Amino acid sequence: MPALTHQSLSLLFTLISPPVPLQGVHYLVENHLLEWRAESVAEFLYKEEGLNKTAIGNFLGEWEEMHLQILKAFVGLHEFSDLNLVQALRQFLWSFRLPGEAQKIDRMMEAFATRYCDCNPGVFQSTDTCYILSFAIIMLNTSLHNPNVKDKPSLQRFVSMNRGINNGEDLSIELLTKLYASIRSEPFKIPEDDGNDLTLTFFNPDREGWLLKMGGRVKTWKRRWFILTDSCLYYFEYTTDKDPIGIIPLEDLCVRELQDSSKPYCLELYNPKGQKIKACKTENKGRVVQGKHQSYKLSAASEEERDNWIGAIR
Ligand SMILES: *[C@@H]1O[C@H](CO)[C@@H](O)[C@H](O)[C@H]1NC(C)=O
Ligand SMILES: *[C@@H]1O[C@H](CO)[C@@H](O)[C@H](O)[C@H]1NC(C)=O
Repeated sequence: MPALTHQSLSLLFTLISPPVPLQGVHYLVENHLLEWRAESVAEFLYKEEGLNKTAIGNFLGEWEEMHLQILKAFVGLHEFSDLNLVQALRQFLWSFRLPGEAQKIDRMMEAFATRYCDCNPGVFQSTDTCYILSFAIIMLNTSLHNPNVKDKPSLQRFVSMNRGINNGEDLSIELLTKLYASIRSEPFKIPEDDGNDLTLTFFNPDREGWLLKMGGRVKTWKRRWFILTDSCLYYFEYTTDKDPIGIIPLEDLCVRELQDSSKPYCLELYNPKGQKIKACKTENKGRVVQGKHQSYKLSAASEEERDNWIGAIR
């Protein structure tokens, strides 16, 4: 049997059964292209790009000994050391789509909690604590970000809801405050199931990071996540957003340092011919419109970051 790279496997996979791992994995196994061992299958599901993440979730949730082992191996591929629980959940919930069935969710979240505690001994007194808090966080995400939920829980309420969950003891207020603030500033994102996340395009960006951006029409500073790749600058509301708010093609543009009275470490993108910059952005309702910028003013967090951005853009 010829040695297959992951890429050719993936191609086969797509040809045979567009993005449905269940049949796809079985086909690969039947044809001896993939070994039917928990570790091999888990690695395939974890590393392969472009697989249907809903189907991965269903596959991992199957109630059979082999699938349970694959789930365990899959969760084991996640590295959660030194991540706080929200950061770990972000990573985990991005790697597949949780299936709808409560029992499946339960199994997956248990596997998650076990792995988190293995990677971070001493944070929680038991896996149960981690498991319960994970659910509390997922619920908090919905309460804070679902527009249908009118009554938004405060930090105090979140803290009191989680009294005594650490084997009868309280978790530290610092920890709960940090987790609460993280969810409030950025909701969990659920991956699309078409395996076509735009994020794949941003796999190896030249540079990415937070910058403040001055609005084109409304002159206020907004914090945006910037990604520089393919000679374009993309900006997003959140790090995990699939669709950018705006795209600035850098062709024909120059960049320079800028002194601004309201913010330090500024840089400016401008058109040396003095014309308006060709760029686009999405409006609230998803409509794409042309940008209104004569120049883009950005502010970095430090002198070093500003210089690195200028260097990368040049
Ligand atoms: C978090 O909340 C957002 C906004 O309501 C929702 O789209 C997303 O599915 C939620 N994530 C989880 C894991 O429930
Ligand atoms: C992904 O898989 C799910 C479940 O198998 C299926 O319902 C959905 O249509 C698939 N999406 C695509 C884009 O094929």
